[in-house]
Amino acid sequence: MIPNHVGIIVDGNGRWATKQRKSRSEGHAAGAKNLDVLCEYIFNKGVKVLSLYVFSTENFKRSDEEVNYLMDLFVKKFKQDFKKFSKKGIKIVFSGRREPLRKEILDIIDDITLKTQDNDKGILNFCLNYGGHAEIIDACKKIIKDNIAVEQLDDMMFAKYLYNDLPNLDLLIRTGGELRISNFMLWQVAYAEFYFTDTLFPDFKKEEFDKALESFNKRERRFGGINYEKKNN
Ligand code: IPE
Ligand code: IPE
Ligand code: MG
Repeated sequence: MIPNHVGIIVDGNGRWATKQRKSRSEGHAAGAKNLDVLCEYIFNKGVKVLSLYVFSTENFKRSDEEVNYLMDLFVKKFKQDFKKFSKKGIKIVFSGRREPLRKEILDIIDDITLKTQDNDKGILNFCLNYGGHAEIIDACKKIIKDNIAVEQLDDMMFAKYLYNDLPNLDLLIRTGGELRISNFMLWQVAYAEFYFTDTLFPDFKKEEFDKALESFNKRERRFGGINYEKKNN
């Protein structure tokens, strides 16, 4: 089975660079290059929604040099992805806080979101200046401002107030060896299957993605229920 919504915590670019005696920037460039090939492969496999964690709200703690390099890389990448994916009918969306992103990035985000909004073959969701806490807090603020009655609020309604109303994650992949969520899609991750790998992101190729799929297909997803028939066999 192909998971409907896959999330990737794109991690390990810096360590990849150190191992190769390269700069962190070169590591990010290698990560971005790998992402190009991988995204196409993942959509071709039949995944409908792909969420990529490319910059967290906390990543602003990094040096100005690294943050600026990443922002320039995103501008370049978004322009390329727009050309490539809009032709294939993929809608591109962005999740995250606008402040303190610079105007150049915000303009591209707005432009691409608008131009691809009617595409219906799949969704590519870039989580940029994204934090799971921030998303939940921002949703609560909008709910309060909209004067939503307490009785009206349920899972479905809450999801509509998130940055994007996406299905819950089915498979969450984290490269780079850390066994943590680092504030990624805390609402949407509720019943996701986790796949952690030591492979650093620039080395996470198609075959590695296939391994994640293989592992996903061995899991028994119960969503809190019990498969009694299976138990009795
Ligand atoms: C992930 O790679 C990319 C971003 C967070 C933008 P890192 O930069 O976190 O790489 P490591 O974890 O230092 O190796
Ligand atoms: C998580 O990676 C954020 C992204 C991949 C964009 P980090 O490298 O920032 O996470 P920590 O600091 O190891 O938890
Ligand atoms: Mg990291």
